[in-house]
Amino acid sequence: MAETDFLSQYSIQRWLEMCPQGYLDDTTYGHESGLTEPEDLLANDDLREASIALTVQLIAGERAALAASSGLVNAAPDHASKAFLATQTLDEARHVEIFTRRLIDLGVKEEDVDSTVNDLANPNLVKFAEVLLEKVGNGDFIAGVVGQNIVLEGMAFSVFELLQATSKDLNPKFAQTLAGTIADERRHVGFGENRIGSLIREHPERKADIERMQAEMSYHMLATFTDVFRGSGPTMDRERQAAAAEGRDLGSAEWHGTDVMAASTDDIEALLAGTVINEFKTRLGRIGIEYQDPKVPA
Ligand SMILES: [Fe+2]
Ligand SMILES: [Fe+2]
Repeated sequence: MAETDFLSQYSIQRWLEMCPQGYLDDTTYGHESGLTEPEDLLANDDLREASIALTVQLIAGERAALAASSGLVNAAPDHASKAFLATQTLDEARHVEIFTRRLIDLGVKEEDVDSTVNDLANPNLVKFAEVLLEKVGNGDFIAGVVGQNIVLEGMAFSVFELLQATSKDLNPKFAQTLAGTIADERRHVGFGENRIGSLIREHPERKADIERMQAEMSYHMLATFTDVFRGSGPTMDRERQAAAAEGRDLGSAEWHGTDVMAASTDDIEALLAGTVINEFKTRLGRIGIEYQDPKVPA
C-alpha cells in the first residue's frame, strides 16, 4: 500500500466518517435506543447468570485490548500508526463500556462491576492477556500488533460473530451491540495485517519470538473456550429442554455451515476453535508468520 493510501485509510477523518458518523450514528451504547434485554432472560436466573458470566469474558478481553492498543500508541514508530491506534483505543474503551453497560442491564450493581469481573474472568483468558501485555509493556511494537490486532482480535471477531448469530432473533439489543463491535474489529484486524507485514519483512529475526507468543496465546485461548463451553453447556441444554417443553421455538442460526441453535456445545466449541485457527493461519500467512500449533489443553 502506498504511504498516502495508508495515511488516509487509517486516518482519524476516515474513522469519524465510518464509525461515529457512520454505523454508530443514532445508537445508544451501541444499539437503537429503547431496546432492552429480553424479559424472559431477565426473569430466568439461570440464563441471566450465564449471560453475566459470558459478558464478563467480553469485558475482560476488551479491557486487555484497551490496555494493548493504548500502550501501542507510544510504541508505534510512525504517526499514521499512532493516529490509527488512538482511534482504536477509543473503540476499545467503547467496547468495554457497552459490555459493562450490559452487565448492569443484566442486574449487576455499578459498584459491583469490578469485583464481578475479577471473580468471573476466566483464568486462562487472564493469562492470554498477560502474554500480550508483557510485549506491549516492553514497547515491542511488532509482537504487540501481531498479538493484539491478529491474535486477540481474530479471536474476538469470530466469538462476536458466533454470539451475534445466536442472538439476532432472541436478543436484538445484544445483536446490535455486537454488530458495531464486529465492524470495529474488522478495521482493527485490517490495520494489523497492512502495517505489520512490511515490518516483519524488514525484521525476519523477530519471527521466532512472535511465533512463540502466538502459540502461547492460542493455548490459553483454546483452554478458555473449553472452560467457557463446559461452564455454559448445562444452562444451554436446560434452556433448550424448557423451550421444547413449552413449545417455544428458539429458531435457527447458521454459522459457518452449522445450525448453532441445534448443535451440541462440544460441536460449537470445535467449530469456533477451528474457525479461529483457520483465521489465524490465513492472516499470519499474509504477514509471513507461520501458525504454530499450541500444545493441547487438558
Ligand atoms: Fe474490541
Ligand atoms: Fe478491537
